[in-house]
Amino acid sequence: MSTVFIHGGTVVSTTGAQPLDILVEGETIVALLHPGSTALGADLRTTADTVVDATGKYVIPGGVDGHTHMQMPFGGTEASDTFETGTRAAAWGGTTTIVDFAVQKPGERVQDTLELWHRKAAGQCAIDYGFHQIVGEVNDESLKGMAELVSEGVTSFKLFMAYPGVFYSDDGRILRAMQTAADLGALLMMHAENGIAIDVLVAQSVARGDTAPYFHGTSRPWQLEEEATHRAIMLAELTGAPLYVVHVSARQALEQIAVARGRGQNVFAETCPQYLYLSLEEQLGAPGFEGAKWVCSTPLRARAEGHQDALWRYLRTGDVTTVSTDHCPFCMKDQKEMGRGDFSKIPNGIGGVEHRMDLMFQGVAKGLISLERWVQVCCTAPARMFGMYPRKGVIAPGADADIVVYDPKGHTSIGYGKTHHMNMDHSAWEGFEIDGHVDTVLSRGRIVVDGGSYHGSAGHGRFVKRELSQNLL
Ligand code: URP
Ligand code: ZN
Ligand code: ZN
Ligand code: ZN
Repeated sequence: MSTVFIHGGTVVSTTGAQPLDILVEGETIVALLHPGSTALGADLRTTADTVVDATGKYVIPGGVDGHTHMQMPFGGTEASDTFETGTRAAAWGGTTTIVDFAVQKPGERVQDTLELWHRKAAGQCAIDYGFHQIVGEVNDESLKGMAELVSEGVTSFKLFMAYPGVFYSDDGRILRAMQTAADLGALLMMHAENGIAIDVLVAQSVARGDTAPYFHGTSRPWQLEEEATHRAIMLAELTGAPLYVVHVSARQALEQIAVARGRGQNVFAETCPQYLYLSLEEQLGAPGFEGAKWVCSTPLRARAEGHQDALWRYLRTGDVTTVSTDHCPFCMKDQKEMGRGDFSKIPNGIGGVEHRMDLMFQGVAKGLISLERWVQVCCTAPARMFGMYPRKGVIAPGADADIVVYDPKGHTSIGYGKTHHMNMDHSAWEGFEIDGHVDTVLSRGRIVVDGGSYHGSAGHGRFVKRELSQNLL
C-alpha cells in the first residue's frame, strides 16, 4: 500500500492546533506522530512513497460542503457545473466531500430520482460525494420512499416553503414529512421563505416596472424568511423532527433559530459565504443587469440592516452550525440573461464551491472567527450533521485521508481567469483577495492538488453512504 507522510505542519481540529506529523497508508490516516518523538518520524521522511513538507502551514481535514447543486435542472435551464467540473473545482479549493441534492418533482418517485442522480455522478467525481433528497411532492409514496432512502445512505430530506408550483410544500405536507423524518431519525432540511407571499410581491414588483435584479431582493424581504423559519421551527417542535434550516440570510431568522436552540430544540442553521460578505446594495444593486450574477434565494440582504454582522456573530457563538456554498452556478450568457427585463425569470443561484475554504479563512485572518471554528463549520460539523463522521471531517487514525495543507502566509486572488475552475463565465467573487492559500489537497490518500497543479481524475470520488447522525445537539 502506498504511503504519504505529511510533516512539519500544525494540525488543526475543532479543539485546538498542534504540531503533528501524519502518516497515510492507502486511503486512510493510520497515525499522528509528535514531531521528533520517534525514530519512525525521521525515517518516514525518506521511506514514505510521498513526502509533503507542511512546515509553517496548517493541516486541516478536507472541506465538507453539505449543499451543492451540480447540473440541477432549475428555472428553465440547468446548473452549469457538471459533477465532473464542479467536483474538480471543489478539489482545487480544498473541499473533498460534497453532499448534493437529488431532486424529486411532482409525479416522480424519490427512489427513481435518487437513481438518476447516482447515474449523473457515477464515474464523474474528483472527490467523494453523498446525496440529500429533495422531496418535491409529499404523498404516501414519497413518505414510504424516505425510509428506503435512509437504508441506502441518504439520511436527510429537503423541503421548500418557497417556489410554489415547483418544489413548494404546504404546512400539512411539511407536517407529514416531519413526522416521517422524526420516526426515521432523519434530518429535515428546510428552505424557509414564505413563497406564497413572495409570489404576490414579485408579481406586484414586475407590474410596477421594477424588473431589475435588485428587486429580486426587495420582493423577498426578511420578514418572510423570519416567518417561515419560525413556522418550520414550530412544526418541527410539534413533530420532534430535527430541523436544519438551509442558507439562512436574515438576522431575524437566525434569532428564531437561536431562541429555539436555547429551549433545547434540535434546530440548526446553515449559512453561506455570500450572506456573510455580499449585500443587496452592493451586489444585487450593481448597475444595469450585473446584479443578476447574485440572484439567489434566500436573497442577499441589506448591509444597512445588519444581517451580515449578525451572521458573523452567530457563526462565532455557535448558533450557525455549518457553512456550505449552495453552489448552484449559472452563466450570464443564455442563462442569467433569461431574466433581462424580468428578474423573476433569472435562474436562482450563485457558484462558489471552489472558494468556501478560502473565504472562510479570511474570517480567521480578520479575527472574526477562530482557526478552530473555521475547521468546525467548514469540515467537522457538516461531517457530523450529515452522518459521515469520523470517516470525514477529522484528522485522526482510521479516518479517510482527506487532508488539506493550507498556507496562512500564501495569497489567493479570486476571480475569473485567476483561480477560477468552475464552469461559469463570470465569478460572483471577482476581486476578493484572501490572506491564505490551498497548497496541497488529498482525497482518500491521493494527492489531487499540489503546487498549483491538478492531479485528480473523474471517477476517483466515491459515493458516501451516510449514517443517521446521532446526538445532533
Ligand atoms: O438560489 C438558490 N439557492 N438556488 C439553489 C436552490 C435552493 O433553493 O437551494
Ligand atoms: Zn433552497
Ligand atoms: Zn440550494
Ligand atoms: Zn501557497
